[in-house]
Amino acid sequence: MTEASLPSAALIGVGVGPGDPELLTVRAVRVIRESDRVLAPSSAVDAVGRAESIVRQACPGTRVERLVFDMGQATTSIDEAARMVVAGLDTGERLAFVTLGDPNVYSTFSSVAARVRELRPGAAIETVPGIMAFQELASRSGTVVLQNTERLALITALDGPAALDGALDDPTQAVVVYKGGRHLPEMAKRLAAAGRLDGAVMGELLGLPGERVGPVAEAAEGPAAYLATVIVPPVSR
Ligand SMILES: C[S@@+](CC[C@H](N)C(=O)[O-])C[C@H]1O[C@@H](n2cnc3c(N)ncnc32)[C@H](O)[C@@H]1O
Repeated sequence: MTEASLPSAALIGVGVGPGDPELLTVRAVRVIRESDRVLAPSSAVDAVGRAESIVRQACPGTRVERLVFDMGQATTSIDEAARMVVAGLDTGERLAFVTLGDPNVYSTFSSVAARVRELRPGAAIETVPGIMAFQELASRSGTVVLQNTERLALITALDGPAALDGALDDPTQAVVVYKGGRHLPEMAKRLAAAGRLDGAVMGELLGLPGERVGPVAEAAEGPAAYLATVIVPPVSR
């Protein structure tokens, strides 16, 4: 068989929210329960990944299979995950791939789905949206992200805190920073220099053990975890 042609076969990227199991949508829970198999990214076969841990709490009794992603061998990991998915699709399975936040925003799911599409161009691939970390941070910190005609820039500081500078130029633009935990002290300095430190908030490990939520000005004495998000609201209100 070269195509995933059985009618129910599908790969479904399911967003499970940032951490609190209460933030799984009703649709996500239904799709997880109706799937033949639930796959979750993990850093090692014996390590419970974040998405798996959320599913275990929200859908007790669900069997979760781990897909090991080695960030040093990302292409190999994606290939192996895609091959496992394709083997399931070829036997008519519905596979839920659970992922933190939303599956269409900075998610490994997109890379796996693209590889599956190359191997099986006719495969059914769907997604279930998930609540994103910045939405939970806005709620927990009481931050209004956008009003009226204001705009939003969602950026990553993966390549360094300089990514912030261009995004701060427009005072009507809110800025959300992902993947910037280790640069938090430097980001705070750049926010202060741009007059944008007031009102900027940080959420680390939202909904997970070790959670911290508060003003960037108070949290930036040292680096934060990889799972940290910053919201810089517009200044022009
Ligand atoms: C690979 S991206 C995943 C984004 C996710 N797909 C989303 O829609 O929110 C990882 C980044 O998302 C943010 N993030 C995800 N979960 C988080 C959490 N529980 N607490 C704080 N930030 C989180 C952090 O900025 C982290 O570096």
